[in-house]
Amino acid sequence: MEFFEAVEKRVSVRRYRPDPVSREDLLRVLAAARRAPSWENLQCARFLVVTDPGKKNAVFEAVHEGNPAKKAVAAAPAAVLLCADPADSGSRAGLDYFLVDAGIAFEHLFLAAAALGLGTCWVGVFDEAALKKAFGIPEGTRVVALTPLGYPEKQSSPRPRKELSELVHFETWGGTGKK
Ligand SMILES: Cc1cc2nc3c(=O)[nH]c(=O)nc-3n(C[C@H](O)[C@H](O)[C@H](O)COP(=O)(O)O)c2cc1C
Repeated sequence: MEFFEAVEKRVSVRRYRPDPVSREDLLRVLAAARRAPSWENLQCARFLVVTDPGKKNAVFEAVHEGNPAKKAVAAAPAAVLLCADPADSGSRAGLDYFLVDAGIAFEHLFLAAAALGLGTCWVGVFDEAALKKAFGIPEGTRVVALTPLGYPEKQSSPRPRKELSELVHFETWGGTGKK
């Protein structure tokens, strides 16, 4: 799939078919995440891939009741935990770049998944301590996010976005770029 088509088609998928994701496709999306830029190329993002149904249940349990993505974790054949140790990145003026590094990497994974017809959904609300215990994640490493990964039950339409004119300033704050 062409890059801009994948960007347009990527949506948060919360309903999945049970069909497994091939190891080849798993490695392709992870390889795309590996290409992400990072602070000083320190590459702090780590990916924990979970396909074993019993282990995936531990991910499901860690997602809070009422989270719209909870059932998606149960339905999808795989889940990926995004982890990062803040000590493996940098900070400037109060901005912690491990979140940026990890976030970019996950979005690379998401777009690669979309290009392969796979669905993802960024899940940011979960019991981090439970996940760290269940998966033996080291003390200093944070679980930044997780996603279900699998084939969408159906292709959803892209959700609305603000107009570009609301988001973009040309040359100076408030500049429209129009002559
Ligand atoms: C930092 C972050 C946290 C999110 N957490 C959740 C979540 O816990 N559960 C969920 O269902 N969606 C979550 N989302 C997905 C957003 O709701 C979704 O991206 C947004 O509504 C736009 O929809 P789209 O991704 O389909 O374009 C999260 C997204 C981001 C970037």
